[in-house]
Amino acid sequence: MARSCTRLGNTGNPALGDRMRVVHGGLDEAELYHLGLDREQVLDFSSSINPLGTADSVRNAALSADLAAYPDRQSWRLRVALATSEGIRPNEVVVGNGSAELIHLIAQNYLNATSRCLILAPTFGEYEAAAAQTGAEVVHLRARQEDGFRWPIPSTVTRIEQARPDLVFLCNPNNPTGVYLDRITVTRLAEAAGSSGLLVLDDAFVPFVTTPWDTRSLIDSGKVILVRSLTKSHALAGVRLGYAIARENIIEKIESLQYTWSVNAIAQAAGLAALKEDKHVERAREVVGEAMAYLRDELLRIGLFPEPPDANFLIVDVGDGARVREALLHHAIAVRDCTSFGLPGYIRIAARPLVECKYLIAALEKIMAEGVITGVNL
Ligand SMILES: Cc1ncc(COP(=O)(O)O)c(C=O)c1O
Repeated sequence: MARSCTRLGNTGNPALGDRMRVVHGGLDEAELYHLGLDREQVLDFSSSINPLGTADSVRNAALSADLAAYPDRQSWRLRVALATSEGIRPNEVVVGNGSAELIHLIAQNYLNATSRCLILAPTFGEYEAAAAQTGAEVVHLRARQEDGFRWPIPSTVTRIEQARPDLVFLCNPNNPTGVYLDRITVTRLAEAAGSSGLLVLDDAFVPFVTTPWDTRSLIDSGKVILVRSLTKSHALAGVRLGYAIARENIIEKIESLQYTWSVNAIAQAAGLAALKEDKHVERAREVVGEAMAYLRDELLRIGLFPEPPDANFLIVDVGDGARVREALLHHAIAVRDCTSFGLPGYIRIAARPLVECKYLIAALEKIMAEGVITGVNL
């Protein structure tokens, strides 16, 4: 298994700033401006959110939030509603300004300059940014392309047990590879992490999995924190809303470092309405299933080899991800260049409604004919 290891100091380390500037999907207004494009004209396959957009009831709830009053500091009503829907106690859940905020708060609580953090990579960049900021040693356990981006579990368990990390970050299904580990595997990883510290399990994309397994019982060990995002499942990326579930003592610690009023009133109102919109997520899962099957078949037809998708996105080797992303933008289509994940040959494509997927495939065929896609087995 390829492995990279970085120790980053708290101060004076020129690499720290770079580590903190995490690349994300989504549209870049400045870039669109220079290309003469309006946001509304672009088909956005670069951020992996609910392809149906925000439900009307959620939008209406957000619009009727009280803008004059301070938001509830503990997001109490939303917390109680989340606890009820998850079958846990309100003090076992904390709401955040996106799950990204919670990832940073967890790192701040459990890491410092003498600790070690293991990240199952390639994966979401905020884990490294959050860990690096604390000065902790960051160790990446990188899955390899030739293994279908699956970590070899026995040696990964051994590596975790030997490294004795304070925190292990695992994203399941993983961003960007789409690999989804089963309950037995995650439990083994959680036990290995729990022998010295905690496992942070990021469930952000579970709502789009066709047959997911329930992660909730993992918190009973007191060694697992589940991080979840309403941003993805309910298309609330602009509002920012996520939550973490764990034993009460852990939740208390996370909350203790949270800025006052970090979750605004619009987000809290939208979240309460979103919890009543299971049907919207169910319909989104159907759209995702249809889009993923279509994209996989069509990519194969045009000569590309996508990794098998277990989530609402897939990655595919196109030779030069940055070049293909740029070429597609000229067709008003945004995809995620995977260079920042250490996968410069790949792009990540999110599930969108079928009609949009057809535009994407047509644009890919055009740029292939122009010779933009090279270096793969065409
Ligand atoms: C795996 C993963 N976790 C968490 C997040 C952050 O989500 P949120 O919008 O809830 O902060 C993202 C965003 O892209 C993500 O990909």
